[in-house]
Amino acid sequence: MGIRRISADQADLRTIEYAFAQSPMPADARAKWTEAMSYNTDSVVLISEEDGVSVTEASAVRLRQNIRGTVYAMAGIAGVAAQPQVRRRGYIRELLTELLGQMREEGHAVSVLYPFRASFYAKFGYVGMPKPRFARFDPTGLSDLRALELDGETEWQQISAGYPLYRGLNERLLTQRHGFAVFPESRDVRIRDRDEHWLVTAKSGGEVIGAAAYRIDRDGGNAILHADSFLHAGPLGRSLLLRFFAMHADHMQEIVVPVAPDEFPELWATDLTGPIEVKPLAGHAPMGRVLSVEALEGMAVGPGRIGVEIVDDPFIAGKYVLDGTSGRLEITPGAPEVTLTSAGFAGLVYGVLSPEEIVLRGLGTIPDQAGLATLFPRQVPYVFAAF
Ligand SMILES: CC(C)(COP(=O)(O)OP(=O)(O)OC[C@H]1O[C@@H](n2cnc3c(N)ncnc32)[C@H](O)[C@@H]1OP(=O)(O)O)[C@@H](O)C(=O)NCCC(=O)NCCS
Repeated sequence: MGIRRISADQADLRTIEYAFAQSPMPADARAKWTEAMSYNTDSVVLISEEDGVSVTEASAVRLRQNIRGTVYAMAGIAGVAAQPQVRRRGYIRELLTELLGQMREEGHAVSVLYPFRASFYAKFGYVGMPKPRFARFDPTGLSDLRALELDGETEWQQISAGYPLYRGLNERLLTQRHGFAVFPESRDVRIRDRDEHWLVTAKSGGEVIGAAAYRIDRDGGNAILHADSFLHAGPLGRSLLLRFFAMHADHMQEIVVPVAPDEFPELWATDLTGPIEVKPLAGHAPMGRVLSVEALEGMAVGPGRIGVEIVDDPFIAGKYVLDGTSGRLEITPGAPEVTLTSAGFAGLVYGVLSPEEIVLRGLGTIPDQAGLATLFPRQVPYVFAAF
């Protein structure tokens, strides 16, 4: 079996379509698929071949992600598939290891994916992260927001016109929000080019502080304002967006908005408490892993100094002393006091697992749990970019 890199437009549609699409694919669906794939030109695509015929494929999107306040190059893994006749022979293990290695060489410090089954990717060193949810409510529940005096205003237009504002807010949140990930612009512009969303933006003091891309769906006699994004830099941006939605009270029967894992939509307005429904989004929760410990040098951490050994991993196995005395992570060689798997280490870096949970889940041996908990305080990542 040989592995080689191809350009995204050379992808063998048989492998990918068979795994992820209606297959064999009707012509109209193929046109849509090809259109979507044309925005992946920046992705790294690897295939493996048997007797010169491509039998597996995996790709990586070049994203950026905020981890504890610093922005890192992140490899977003997608389109992992093997043709049925070659499954369970270890081909994907080899292909994915090669892909992650190449992304690491290119400077990607971390990697995120949306698994078909979390236990499959746990074997590749990934740890689960919280799943975004959505809230569904009647806009009359927002009525107390209509009269609010807020220091800002909203602007309403189609996404093709407002895209630069939308992208600008994404870039802003990338620098502000733990876990937040942003696509390369070459892929992000698909939402602008398709032009299937309205965009409401919230501004204050000349700054964009909130944005929601939404469409209106009709379900029988019901009109539903369905937002595919609901992004804000804080309570003012959120309130400005919700005040705009409140103006739809006698127009829409329902509003559906995505909710970050650390938000409580029942607290957004007084009368939202009753009829609000909050559910996880469809699909699996994201997972993340670290590809280079050294690349995390300088990340904001809590005080403390601990020697760790990361075991059983092709990329980050080794002994490191993690020193947060200055408030920024310093990494030197040294004797380990604790042992972690790659998933255990990712759980600490992303802030999703406490040392106690890591031990309980069999992801490490940690005699000094308090020290490691201080070094990596809990945080709630919101990945946002979905692929
Ligand atoms: C999932 C898929 C890519 C696995 O490919 P594969 O070539 O069979 O994988 P490998 O043989 O390299 O197996 C890698 C490891 O995962 C395990 N594994 C394979 N398929 C698995 C499954 N469905 N569930 C759980 N573990 C699985 C293997 O036992 C192996 O473990 P080990 O290395 O510890 O022994 C393949 O079945 C496929 O294309 N499925 C349809 C598309 C899909 O769901 N892709 C994933 C998208 S996120």
